Amino acid sequence: MDKKHFYITTPIYYPSDKLHIGHTYCTVATDAMARYKRLTGCDVMFLTGTDEHGQKIEDKAKEAGVTPQQFVDNIVTAPGGILDLWKLMNISNDRFIRTTDGYHVAAIQKIFKKMYDNGDIYKGTYKGKYCKPCESFWTESQLKDGKCPDCGREVQDAEEEAYFFRLSKYADRVRDLLENTDFLEPRSRVHEMVNNFIKPGLEDLCVSRTSFTWGVPVDFDPGHVVYVWIDALFNYMTALGYMNDEHDDLDQYWPADVHFVGKEIVRFHSIIWPAMLMSMDLPLPKKVYGHGWLLLDGGKMSKSKGNVVDPVILAGRYGVDALRFFLLRTFPFGSDGNFSNELLIQTINTDLANDLGNLVSRTTAMAEKYFAGKLPAGHQAADLDAALVDMVRGLRDRYEEQMEKFQFQNALEEVFKTIQRANKYIDETGPWALAKDMEANGARLAAVLYNLLETVRVCTVLLLPFMPDSCEKIFEQTGAAAEARTWDSAARWGMLPADVQVRKGEALFPRIDMAKELEELEKAAEEARRAALPTVEIEPQSDEMVDFDTFCKSDFRAVKVKDCQRVKKSDKLLRFTLDDGTGTDRQILSGIAKWYQPEDLIGRTLVAIVNLPPRKMMGLQSCGMLISAVHTERGEECLHLIMVDDAIPAGAKLC
Ligand code: MSP
Repeated sequence: MDKKHFYITTPIYYPSDKLHIGHTYCTVATDAMARYKRLTGCDVMFLTGTDEHGQKIEDKAKEAGVTPQQFVDNIVTAPGGILDLWKLMNISNDRFIRTTDGYHVAAIQKIFKKMYDNGDIYKGTYKGKYCKPCESFWTESQLKDGKCPDCGREVQDAEEEAYFFRLSKYADRVRDLLENTDFLEPRSRVHEMVNNFIKPGLEDLCVSRTSFTWGVPVDFDPGHVVYVWIDALFNYMTALGYMNDEHDDLDQYWPADVHFVGKEIVRFHSIIWPAMLMSMDLPLPKKVYGHGWLLLDGGKMSKSKGNVVDPVILAGRYGVDALRFFLLRTFPFGSDGNFSNELLIQTINTDLANDLGNLVSRTTAMAEKYFAGKLPAGHQAADLDAALVDMVRGLRDRYEEQMEKFQFQNALEEVFKTIQRANKYIDETGPWALAKDMEANGARLAAVLYNLLETVRVCTVLLLPFMPDSCEKIFEQTGAAAEARTWDSAARWGMLPADVQVRKGEALFPRIDMAKELEELEKAAEEARRAALPTVEIEPQSDEMVDFDTFCKSDFRAVKVKDCQRVKKSDKLLRFTLDDGTGTDRQILSGIAKWYQPEDLIGRTLVAIVNLPPRKMMGLQSCGMLISAVHTERGEECLHLIMVDDAIPAGAKLC
């Protein structure tokens, strides 16, 4: 029988900055879903990619002094770029599309022309508001307090000759799709779309720009480039070969089973995307799922706000699987969730180290200790086992029900309830007590361990989509062969041979010392923050002119340090006794204790201005000022006293 096809997509990401944990969240969720569907036996197509056109990229490239193509290559394909991030996160995408790929560009031109030819794209004048960072056009009525309703930033007036898509024509059909089908989930997003966008009246959409050039050119009207969202949305079809010969999978995979998208781009996917497909007479995707955001301190992460969390750092510290697991175990996929390091560490400690890790290590350790790793056949079940075994038998169905609704958190909850039950079963059956009399209880002890190994096996099959590498290790340790790692096997009890061979391995998820770790994270974040600061900052030069005569009045002299002491009760001031060539010692106080040890300065020749009016500091007279060079380095003020050649005699005038 032919495998069931399943086509799932992430949004294609803007390569305008390094991706953060929020982007990773969406891709990991899609990956878990793709792996789950493969596990269940589907023929999966998992697409991700990058959305590389638009004014923002053009501007950023200009700022960086490179071409837009070089700019995006640097973020997508260069070492440490998006492709590397997905490799690191063990993302199993089957295809990766870049909207700058030649086949996609040519296809977009044909698509645009087709909608122009059928009358759904027409030429007019665009007047309205434009949000540059979001690359979104808005009408006055859509703005929130005069600002972009998506990101809250300032919008600009925009007026230019442009092409429009007859979005208004499809308003009723789109409303029907949203209200009367399961096209858009979760349901709360439907109300948002209908109330905020459809009820106020769908206006035709501006779909070309002339104010920048980094986009797909409208081939029949030079000077216009296709609006980035048309270019972007059709990626889901061009990547399968729509209007191009690069690929040839449209028949198998279109319509898509689900587009996973963040909540702020649900509007594009649930209104504009179906309307364009209707215009082209193409089948609609079966579902759009609008997931929530990962927030930091209650706000959306963004590079410009400087509050992004780097997935590479977290994966490096805790392992890729722990990070993947945390993202899907902790936050309900359809709602926003607050990211914090505490929560991450707590989840790793509780679920992975305590519950799963302990279950695996205790079970394998006991199998090794009591049976040298190989259980004897012929063990007996007991009444006490039924509660655990029944729970495991029904687990796959309960898990499947949640996975089919994209409720990763609930699916994992089912698995972890079972793991916790198994840990309790160890306490109930007391294997260590049984082991005291192996002759009488050996068969019973083997049965207990077998039940634990079977429980671990079924849970591990179901955890495969979330933590693929760790699950392989657990299978190795617990002696699960290939046929005991399948989806079918997860619904069956007794897939391990009775005399299963166990090999205890290293602890999979070491416990983390929360307080110590938080401190280190804080330090690492501070270092990263500093490293991101400009290396050296110097004060801009003054525009204010000083006339020559005034300048000449300043009397700069070489002075030799005869003595230098800290000023009592001051952590800033040093007291200098100086030879200024007059034969009388000069005293100057200088606030430089942070940078110099007094003894290091004795004997040095410095520069002082000597005709400043004397002033008192900490009860001591200061007659003049020592001259220093100052700058800022990684946010920290740096100071260097000007020291001159010791051959210069004390009192020599500097001019
Ligand atoms: N290029 C468009 C998508 C075009 S799809 C045809 C885009 N790119 S994006 O890079 O800005 O965002 C990609 C996805 O990352 C979006 O779904 C967005 O919601 C998601 N996320 C970005 N920050 C996020 C969080 N902090 N939390 C969760 N998801 C977030 O939009």
